[in-house]
Amino acid sequence: MKILVVGGAGYIGSHCVRQLLAAGHQPIIIDNFVYGHRDSIPEGLTVYEGDMGDIAFTQPILEKEQVEIVMHFAAFAYVGESTSDPLKYYDNNVAKTVHLLQAMRNANVNRFIFSSSCTIFGESSKMPLHEDLPLQAFSPYGQTKQDVEVLLGYCAKAYGLSYACFRYFNASGADPEGTIGEDHDPETHLIPLAIQAARGQRDKLVIFGMDYPTPDGTCLRDYVHVNDLSRAHIAAFDKLKTPGTELHYNLGTGKPASVLEVINTVEAVSGLSVPHEFGPRRPGDVPAAYAYPEKAISELNWQIEFPDIKSIVETAWKWHESHPNGFEK
Ligand SMILES: NC(=O)c1ccc[n+]([C@@H]2O[C@H](COP(=O)([O-])OP(=O)(O)OC[C@H]3O[C@@H](n4cnc5c(N)ncnc54)[C@H](O)[C@@H]3O)[C@@H](O)[C@H]2O)c1
Repeated sequence: MKILVVGGAGYIGSHCVRQLLAAGHQPIIIDNFVYGHRDSIPEGLTVYEGDMGDIAFTQPILEKEQVEIVMHFAAFAYVGESTSDPLKYYDNNVAKTVHLLQAMRNANVNRFIFSSSCTIFGESSKMPLHEDLPLQAFSPYGQTKQDVEVLLGYCAKAYGLSYACFRYFNASGADPEGTIGEDHDPETHLIPLAIQAARGQRDKLVIFGMDYPTPDGTCLRDYVHVNDLSRAHIAAFDKLKTPGTELHYNLGTGKPASVLEVINTVEAVSGLSVPHEFGPRRPGDVPAAYAYPEKAISELNWQIEFPDIKSIVETAWKWHESHPNGFEK
């Protein structure tokens, strides 16, 4: 199928592009390169450089390329920045998504896959997080994801849009071939930070809080491999054929790891020590967040190929070892 990957030069989008090619689909990319990397794009792939919020740019692409499904990975995703500059986040993550959906409607493209986040569940006291729990985001970033999810429901009912929202837990790891991987600037994710600290590329890692009600006192999170995420998206294609279909899946392994377990795993895989120290808790951090992934497993026949933190860290380590400074461009 012809798939438009919006944000296809970013971390998760670029891994999804590889998985689409491996599954025999024809991806094309839109990216404005605010983030993302040109080197992450396979040679020969069609790339349109521009902004997803510009209907005059996106609509002709949708029409000319005869796009069948739009996959939307393009968002700003720094929770702290979203609190200090909420307008920036509502503009990029909500307003520009509205324009993208309008361009799709104008071009008669009716299938949409959206990168949502487990942060829409806020400080839920129920764990694991399953799909039926109430949406109660508590940051501007989380609220932008929640708002788009709600809007998609209205579009399904009004226009017959078929959509899937995938709520990612902690996307992590790298393509096992080692040619693409995680390279955010600034980087805020634990596994790359721990690897860079082990390699002496940054100062010691600060662990925010050591007195949480968890087995070792550090926060528990659900690390899910970026290729596993990508394959779940592709597994939803068939279900989107029926107009007005609305799908929601929480994508995690359901087996959380603590911050200390991640550090220990990075040390075991790399053979290096991760310099670290403990700092105070960070406002907004919940003790534990992990998925109940059974809905995706049973309905999409989703296979988790990287079910444990060691297999995920091994792929991340391979990427960082071969690309110590990330992508060149
Ligand atoms: N990384 C995670 O752990 C995680 C967890 C939950 C949800 N998500 C969501 O997954 C998606 C992808 O995350 P990522 O880590 O790959 O981010 P990323 O920053 O690596 O990739 C996003 C890409 O979108 C592009 N982009 C942003 N705004 C754009 C616009 N207006 N027009 C065109 N291109 C634009 C950027 O240049 C970048 O290439 C995001 O929607 C994010 O909110 C990520």
